[in-house]
Amino acid sequence: MNRAAPRPSAALFPPAEERQRYDNFLTHELMLARQRIELGPVMPAFDLQAFRQELAGFDFRTPRPLDEALSWTIGQMEHGLVHITHPRYFGLYNPAPAFPAQCADRIAGSFNPQLATATTSPAAVEIEAHVIRAVAQRAGFPSEATGHFTSGGSEANYTALICALTRSNENFASEGSRAFKGKPVFYVSRESHLAWLKIAHQAGIGRSAVRLVATDGSGRMDANALAAAIAGDRRLGCVPVMIAATAGTTNAGMIDPLTACAEIAQTSGVWFHVDAAWGGALIASDRLRNILDGIERADSTTIDAHKWFATTMGCGMFITKHALVLSSAFQAATSFMPSNAAGIDPYVTSVQWSRRFLGLRLFLSLAAAGWNGYGEHVERSIELAGMLEQELTARKWLIANQSPLAVLCIEPPRHCGEAKAIVQRVLASGRVWIASAGFEGRDIIRACVTHGETTEDDIHELVDALQDASKAAA
Ligand SMILES: Cc1ncc(COP(=O)(O)O)c(C=O)c1O
Repeated sequence: MNRAAPRPSAALFPPAEERQRYDNFLTHELMLARQRIELGPVMPAFDLQAFRQELAGFDFRTPRPLDEALSWTIGQMEHGLVHITHPRYFGLYNPAPAFPAQCADRIAGSFNPQLATATTSPAAVEIEAHVIRAVAQRAGFPSEATGHFTSGGSEANYTALICALTRSNENFASEGSRAFKGKPVFYVSRESHLAWLKIAHQAGIGRSAVRLVATDGSGRMDANALAAAIAGDRRLGCVPVMIAATAGTTNAGMIDPLTACAEIAQTSGVWFHVDAAWGGALIASDRLRNILDGIERADSTTIDAHKWFATTMGCGMFITKHALVLSSAFQAATSFMPSNAAGIDPYVTSVQWSRRFLGLRLFLSLAAAGWNGYGEHVERSIELAGMLEQELTARKWLIANQSPLAVLCIEPPRHCGEAKAIVQRVLASGRVWIASAGFEGRDIIRACVTHGETTEDDIHELVDALQDASKAAA
């Protein structure tokens, strides 16, 4: 009996000409939204209750036309987000994505390659490996260095800790933290990114394993305090496994003393990791690369492409000199995977199993801009941050950090209100977006100038917004 197969769902798999129409519609609508966003507030007013009511209308019983759902979604994104793509967004390090990275997302979404194994996606796996090698070499790592793309800095830092534990004790893989005679501990500065606490929890060694080493008053890890902490822990029977220095602290862009940390790691026999999640982009600049001197001595490093390399989120990188440690930490063999070769198949050398083609974002961006283009991108940011500093200090504002990167920790002039109150007023104005943060125990206003299209006018607008808010808050 000949029975025709059921037709594919037209809503999920529309025919080619329909797709073309939706594609054109989407491209056009997104371009218009982008133009409107640039002219509007960085942080639109958002009525969450009204939004929830509208959202509840999607009960998924009655299908809606796709173009209607697309328009609705774009409209909600336009009014329901802090616009990190706005040139007056001086916020966290998440960028306005570079255009080639956006193109990469379209390509990845279209081919949807499975990057777990090289057997099924050899071209994609090779492209990622090529980019990782290029970044590793640029960071001064040896040619045998390896690594992979991650969901972000947290996953990359987690990978570093698992590697450190695996190398420190050959029974960690089978016994977990029970393999250690004493409590395994690791060292980061108290200005480091505190995802380290979650990471210790996830790794099963507990949050109390994180030693928050004192800083030097300028936001950098105090190397003497680090050495003393390791010695103290040893006396107590703890087992130091890793020093993770930060190259570009989250709040203040400070660089821990990488060479001193590398020396201490070497004499203590512990894994040395450099969390260069956002500062790592400096490798692109021949002029500024020396700011990261010492990174090449690390056993591993984290560099996020979705921060200063301006790819779409999330796109981190974990790079290490120790391919064998990496593969013994994440090995697995199954009958259903077509292959499981360490160093070739990403799922046996990394946390993830199924994986998206993230590395294409940096590949296309690097292909289009070259290292020089990225070098100019980071140098430009630093120049704009310098202009901001000049304008502010001329008006008696204070800069609490001496960062070589593009972030300022700003304190208001005397009698001009508290930092937090000023930030609230600035945010309420919608003119620019800045953050409240702490630096060396002080409340500060943080302005990060990493958006690739921010102009001098945008800097003036930020200064004016701060001045106005401080007068109102005084
Ligand atoms: C220094 C540093 N490390 C790690 C992270 C965490 O990275 P992600 O948010 O990509 O997981 C951040 C995020 O800002 C960071 O600044």
